[in-house]
Amino acid sequence: MKATITTTAHYVPEKVLTNIEIAKLVDTSDEWIRSRTGIAQRHIVAENEATSDMCTEVAKQLLEKRDLSPNDIDIIIVGTVTPDHFTPSTAAIIQDNIGAANAWGFDLSAACSGFIFGLETGAKFIESGTYQHIMVIGADTMTSILDFTDRETCVLFGDGAGGVILEPSQSGGGILDSILHTDGSGGTSLWVPAGGSRHPATIDTINEHSHYIKQDGKRVFKFAVKGMADVTQQILKNNNLTGEKIKLFIPHQANKRIIDATAKRCGISNDKVLINIEWYGNTTAGTIPIGLSEAVEKGELIDGDFLLLASFGAGFTWGSILIKWESHL
Ligand SMILES: CC(C)(COP(=O)(O)OP(=O)(O)OC[C@H]1O[C@@H](n2cnc3c(N)ncnc32)[C@H](O)[C@@H]1OP(=O)(O)O)[C@@H](O)C(=O)NCCC(=O)NCCS
Repeated sequence: MKATITTTAHYVPEKVLTNIEIAKLVDTSDEWIRSRTGIAQRHIVAENEATSDMCTEVAKQLLEKRDLSPNDIDIIIVGTVTPDHFTPSTAAIIQDNIGAANAWGFDLSAACSGFIFGLETGAKFIESGTYQHIMVIGADTMTSILDFTDRETCVLFGDGAGGVILEPSQSGGGILDSILHTDGSGGTSLWVPAGGSRHPATIDTINEHSHYIKQDGKRVFKFAVKGMADVTQQILKNNNLTGEKIKLFIPHQANKRIIDATAKRCGISNDKVLINIEWYGNTTAGTIPIGLSEAVEKGELIDGDFLLLASFGAGFTWGSILIKWESHL
């Protein structure tokens, strides 16, 4: 039995922060950000808005679109590195907010690969035959860990959430294959040094800004291109496919130059590559499900289309998932 995506939804906060506004906070420019990253603006949460609020919006949309009762949901999996709290989990907060009385759930930490890792996890639960409806949501409030005095990170990220409902496939399509990787030796190339159990938050960690995200941009860039391209080429090869056979490629949206280089190496033409980084920036676990939800809304996928997802993120974590699309409208 295979798992298939029956429903998609996304939510981004109303408030927009443009490059021009960021250039008033740090020494940067609209031109530099656009040319080096492809980003023009990002959405940011309102005061008192957190990751579970965005996820709850997504979860409500998913239920409505699929005409399901909250009681039908078996599991809620949330990929996030910016949960509302260390505990309870974001999944538990969503479960309560939507009244999913029969669901259990958990958060999964894989940074920008959070949605891909969650999708693989959810698919295995469906394939076990035990569960019928699983919500997989990828969401991050990156502004909660951004240092708006560090121009090398604060220009890159935004806030947003997207998700899907996974169900057993009726016709043998759905999630066909996946390849996932973790290489912890890249840990400190993209990380939040303090605030966890190694260096709990103190006045010093706050003064040093070490509870904010830090990165070695050049190293991450190189690993991202190699990681996403290698894994995408491998999954195509394993399934006797070429880039030409793919209808839509949705790569993680970290930098337009990373996306372009990855697609080129994989032989996937530009018209098949979803790019929306211009409007949202890097929403970490949110980028792929937001892109997928937008593509479905625009009617870009029909029955039998090959959809390829690829991610790269902190950890390092990376992976690719191949889907034979089944329309459930
Ligand atoms: C961060 C990133 C955009 C920098 O682009 P780049 O072309 O590699 O730029 P460089 O690091 O070579 O920096 C070039 C110059 O721009 C400067 N610079 C960095 N950020 C800047 C900004 N926001 N505005 C203006 N100048 C900036 C640097 O200080 C450097 O100046 P110098 O030459 O005087 O030292 C790029 O490395 C990147 O996207 N890396 C991956 C990051 C990422 O995606 N992280 C999340 C992964 S999931």
